[in-house]
Amino acid sequence: MKVAVLGFGTVGVGVYEMLGKANGLEQGPVLVRPGKKDAPFKVTSIEEIVNDPTVGAVAEVMGGVEPAYSYAAAALQAGKHFVTSNKALVAAKGPELDAIAREKGVAFLFSAACGGGVPFLHNLALARESDSIRSLGGILNGTTNYMLDAMQRLHLDYGDVLKDAQRLGYAEADPTADVSGLDALRKIMLACAVAYGVLPTDGLLHEGIESVTAADVAHFQSRGYTCRLIASGGKSDDGVYAYVEPVLLRDGAAECSVLQNFNMARYEGACAGSIVLIGQGAGRWPTASAVLRDLSGILRGEREMFPAALRRGEVDNSAARHSYYVRLPAELAGELPAASAELDGDVCRMITEPMAVSQMHFAAAELRGRGAEVFFAAVRE
Ligand SMILES: NC(=O)c1ccc[n+]([C@@H]2O[C@H](COP(=O)([O-])OP(=O)(O)OC[C@H]3O[C@@H](n4cnc5c(N)ncnc54)[C@H](OP(=O)(O)O)[C@@H]3O)[C@@H](O)[C@H]2O)c1
Repeated sequence: MKVAVLGFGTVGVGVYEMLGKANGLEQGPVLVRPGKKDAPFKVTSIEEIVNDPTVGAVAEVMGGVEPAYSYAAAALQAGKHFVTSNKALVAAKGPELDAIAREKGVAFLFSAACGGGVPFLHNLALARESDSIRSLGGILNGTTNYMLDAMQRLHLDYGDVLKDAQRLGYAEADPTADVSGLDALRKIMLACAVAYGVLPTDGLLHEGIESVTAADVAHFQSRGYTCRLIASGGKSDDGVYAYVEPVLLRDGAAECSVLQNFNMARYEGACAGSIVLIGQGAGRWPTASAVLRDLSGILRGEREMFPAALRRGEVDNSAARHSYYVRLPAELAGELPAASAELDGDVCRMITEPMAVSQMHFAAAELRGRGAEVFFAAVRE
């Protein structure tokens, strides 16, 4: 099967090179921007790919929602299989692309969009057919894991680890999507859609690591905790719950052994129990390998990742409750239900009584709206 590649950046170069060596797959044309055509295999218009009868599949590795969506729709309408690593595209337009692919009887697969090289979505899609998936999630963002790990083990400041992560290519020049938890949130949206047939839209909550300080980390560490950014999802009464937030885990928990920029995806099957997958969540070769796995899957007859009755749905986080570590100005300590609190000059570090996830996220937003510096993390014993 000849595969066209849209985009020739970090992942695109890897996909193109791997296609040259993969069984049953063949390098096709590569779409680049006008002005960047410096080799005969590169083309500058999507029509050259869509109208090429020798192209059997299109791998989109450009990023962004447009023009990726228009190109994807055109490729599927033309009867070509479509594979993507683009989580923003699938989170925004997954149901539309899935519908076109089913109508045309071609594949729409996106393993690389969640977990990079870790075969999370692929395994969820298999597991949901025979087991009931009770919960899912884990460490789905390598950049923030690298930063939290370095802060804990190397005792570095947030600003210094962010610069290190950027120098090593783990964080982008604009790291907002990673450090705010948005990237992990998009991934948990896709995982919920694959596992439960509900692509969560409204009501999503994400707290990142932008407010964590070296003093917070030293405080957790002295009490036997490790901090990780965790995405959580599962089935609620009417739909799904899905949120991202920092979590303090007891040293020895599986998540604490996930170091540097690795990912750890997990799900809990009613029969299978807890299944954990650890690996490289990003980077040229891990991500390209996931794209190639999908393309090879097409040769074996794989066609869809979403279940047939996929719908968009509101998130219901009302049943999720945790105690939280909260650092906030001492004069605001009375605003939250403290189970215990320590004063450190004009700063208060407290552990709250169990609170609804939404209550904690909204309280932090409200306090920040008043100019307060706040960091919080759920406490998991
Ligand atoms: N990098 C990773 O580790 C990783 C992991 C998992 C998923 N992903 C996803 O994979 C996708 C690609 O990531 P990447 O890291 O490879 O990004 P990248 O290095 O920025 O590469 C994207 C490439 O696509 C090109 N491009 C963008 N829009 C285009 C258009 N309209 N026409 C032609 N070419 C276009 C860009 O060209 P210009 O440079 O000229 O803009 C660039 O060469 C993203 O959706 C990302 O979220 C990446």
